[in-house]
Amino acid sequence: MGNFHDLLVNRRSIRRYTSEEVSAENVKLILEAALMAPTSKSTRAWQFIVVEDKDMLERLSHCKPAGAAPIAKAAFAVVVAADPSLTDPWVEDASIAAAYMQLQAEDLGLGSCWIQVRGRFAGDNTPSEEYVQELLGMPDTLPVLCVMAFGHKDEERRPCDTSKLLWEKVHIGTWKEV
Ligand SMILES: Cc1cc2nc3c(=O)[nH]c(=O)nc-3n(C[C@H](O)[C@H](O)[C@H](O)COP(=O)(O)O)c2cc1C
Repeated sequence: MGNFHDLLVNRRSIRRYTSEEVSAENVKLILEAALMAPTSKSTRAWQFIVVEDKDMLERLSHCKPAGAAPIAKAAFAVVVAADPSLTDPWVEDASIAAAYMQLQAEDLGLGSCWIQVRGRFAGDNTPSEEYVQELLGMPDTLPVLCVMAFGHKDEERRPCDTSKLLWEKVHIGTWKEV
């Protein structure tokens, strides 16, 4: 990847992955990105569970009835959780770490997709968070924000069209109704 802006333009959510494994070195780089993410008061209250086992990935993909299928065919997934008793803005901290991992994956030429868990429900109406906690043996004091799916890209997505950015969302100096 040439420069950071190109990386941002080219990063798209990738939901289809080849069966090729991701090297241990690249998995480590992606986790390093998460561990370097900024956190409020440097509390670093997040926890990351790396899942590579195919059967476990398949079961994780059932954390909600729609929108989680990409996990099943991912080379690996990272479950992102954090301890709210340690930091009030845990959602923000965990979100930044997740986004950092996506950007690092893109820089490595890998695809990724954020699968939302917090506030979602599994097929039997169990909260998706509980489903994931139970599956992975996590304590219920550790809410799950999302599952990040990673793998070698098996689909092409158009880069962002910078001519279509929503500049009306940007207000200079004071709020201006558009
Ligand atoms: C908070 C959040 C939750 C998301 N949840 C899901 C999800 O559950 N399943 C999914 O396939 N994509 C999910 N996405 C990916 C978005 O659908 C995607 O980022 C959006 O459509 C923009 O497309 P792009 O990432 O290719 O630019 C989520 C993204 C974010 C930031």
